[in-house]
Amino acid sequence: MSSLLCRSVSRAARSLLSASKNARFYSEGRAAAAVAAVSLNGKLPFLAAFHGRSDSGNASRSWVSGVLALPAAAYMLQEQEVHASEMERTFIAIKPDGVQRGLISEIISRFERKGFKLVAIKVAAPSKAFAQKHYHDLKERPFFNGLCDFLSSGPVVAMVWEGEGVIRYGRKLIGATDPQKSEPGTIRGDLAVVVGRNIIHGSDGPETAKDEINLWFKPEELVSYTSNAEKWIYGDN
Ligand code: RTP
Ligand code: MG
Repeated sequence: MSSLLCRSVSRAARSLLSASKNARFYSEGRAAAAVAAVSLNGKLPFLAAFHGRSDSGNASRSWVSGVLALPAAAYMLQEQEVHASEMERTFIAIKPDGVQRGLISEIISRFERKGFKLVAIKVAAPSKAFAQKHYHDLKERPFFNGLCDFLSSGPVVAMVWEGEGVIRYGRKLIGATDPQKSEPGTIRGDLAVVVGRNIIHGSDGPETAKDEINLWFKPEELVSYTSNAEKWIYGDN
């Protein structure tokens, strides 16, 4: 019952948000949220409203509390949505050696435990032509042909990770290109030995991240959502 009510309040809050396309509403929503916070008379009327209880002796007061809570809920959703839109994305791929060595979960867990959010994932078998597109900036290098043969030699786990600073910090989690030079504690430092089998790829900047995400994924394969953990991962004191 309470979850039904919470859902309808959440739905109503979303309608409030979508009905309002201008910043003025949001600042009014923020003010209304503050008013709602002081009008709620502590937590109990708020909870009573959400649980549909009128045994406080005043059903209409509970109803009013619920209505006042709407702008507060709208404000909370708005904050989450604004935060999500500020987030950076990077393309990460577990290469055929990482997949064959059973390192998929190990690699995913390092990004996940850091606090980054997985917004797309698939197992792919890239053709050599696709691999050449992916590594096009290295086409003059002597190892280009062998590198593209290798990337197209077996399954690859393609992913998009989202978070503050995820492009640069993703590269830190991955470690130096040559595992002999990667620091212990990094993915390549801990799990790989030679440069030709360094198990993972990560975009090296905002432009390549955008290009690589577009190369490997259709827009509808990217899932935008708010993680419940976000308020524990981000925040200013
Ligand atoms: P990646 O693109 O795969 O994330 O690697 P990276 O940025 O750290 O290094 P990059 O210079 O872009 O090289 C791409 C991949 O080419 C192979 N490589 N082989 N034989 C060699 O000297 C050599 N150098 C690079 C590596 O597999 C490297 O990840
Ligand atoms: Mg690279």
